[in-house]
Amino acid sequence: MRAALITRLDGPDAVQVADVDEPAGDDAVVIDVHAAGVAFPDALLTRGLYQYKPELPFSPGAEIAGVVRSAPADAHVAAGDRVLGLTMLSGGMAEVVALPADRVFKLPDAVSFEAGAGILFNDLTVQFALRTRGRLAQGETVLVHGAAGGIGTSALRLAPALGASRTIAVVSTEEKAEIARSAGASDVVLADGFRDAVKELTGGRGVDIVLDPVGGDRFTDSLRSLAVGGRLLVVGFTGGEIPTVKVNRLLLNNVDVVGAGWGAWSFSHPGYLAEQWAELEPLLASGAVAAPQPEVYPLEQAAEAIASLENRTAKGKVVLKLR
Ligand SMILES: NC(=O)c1ccc[n+]([C@@H]2O[C@H](COP(=O)([O-])OP(=O)(O)OC[C@H]3O[C@@H](n4cnc5c(N)ncnc54)[C@H](OP(=O)(O)O)[C@@H]3O)[C@@H](O)[C@H]2O)c1
Repeated sequence: MRAALITRLDGPDAVQVADVDEPAGDDAVVIDVHAAGVAFPDALLTRGLYQYKPELPFSPGAEIAGVVRSAPADAHVAAGDRVLGLTMLSGGMAEVVALPADRVFKLPDAVSFEAGAGILFNDLTVQFALRTRGRLAQGETVLVHGAAGGIGTSALRLAPALGASRTIAVVSTEEKAEIARSAGASDVVLADGFRDAVKELTGGRGVDIVLDPVGGDRFTDSLRSLAVGGRLLVVGFTGGEIPTVKVNRLLLNNVDVVGAGWGAWSFSHPGYLAEQWAELEPLLASGAVAAPQPEVYPLEQAAEAIASLENRTAKGKVVLKLR
């Protein structure tokens, strides 16, 4: 089969497309992959900078959408089913994957393979962050950093269905503002000066939740943008720098900084992924949550697709088409 392959840790440009053996399918759901999601950890994996460090050579790719080729008799999916799946966290950018049945979910008929490949990794992270860790309540306002990225557009699509009455998107450019708007943002502000813009938009009150996949030097202004009782959800560090917190700010303003590590949570909570999908699937099937509108690259351009996340040119969710 064809697969994107990392053979050396020299960054996205070193990602090749090569012929490799198909995975063994014993006791697993074997899936013909139609599309694979690209996420920021794939860019980190190309440089050996992610906490998870597979042995070389390996294929990146945390999520896929495709058609079941074969499945164990007791699985909840069968040959021919349209599905999406999580690799946790590599191997997805390949024509065939073999996954444990509990990481495979039925793809709603209304959702294409390309859109489907952009759902699980970000939407389940965002749902976990907003609901389980962030305690999002009906009518709250959510500020989303990196709002034109994968996690960001997911947060803008999901937050209203989970109860938010307003989303404020933070982006670096006007072009990215358009992406955030089409993902459903109520308001969009530029990263430069976002604190003053948020203060003005909220009449000085601040927001209930900040969802932050960026980190870096905007962290203190994010804390200052919280309303009393607000929560800042730490999701990632695309900005590169891991911020530090002066805890007196938490005490003085009665705000929380909350870690949101979905992968670790799902590993320590068996059945959690299925619970999450049981909530998300009807929202996607009914259109209450719109499917992602990904930027699609052919497998042959895996290197460019992954590079677009590292060099910050990605527009919304990025997906590779394999079939
Ligand atoms: N906690 C979890 O369980 C979990 C799960 C999945 C992913 N993540 C993390 O979430 C983060 C976002 O992932 P993603 O797939 O959404 O990434 P993405 O699509 O590349 O989006 C990230 C956004 O970060 C912003 N950014 C700011 N500084 C940047 C820089 N120096 N380089 C690149 N981007 C920069 C960009 O927006 P602007 O240009 O508009 O600033 C970009 O749109 C990553 O750190 C990832 O590891 C965490």
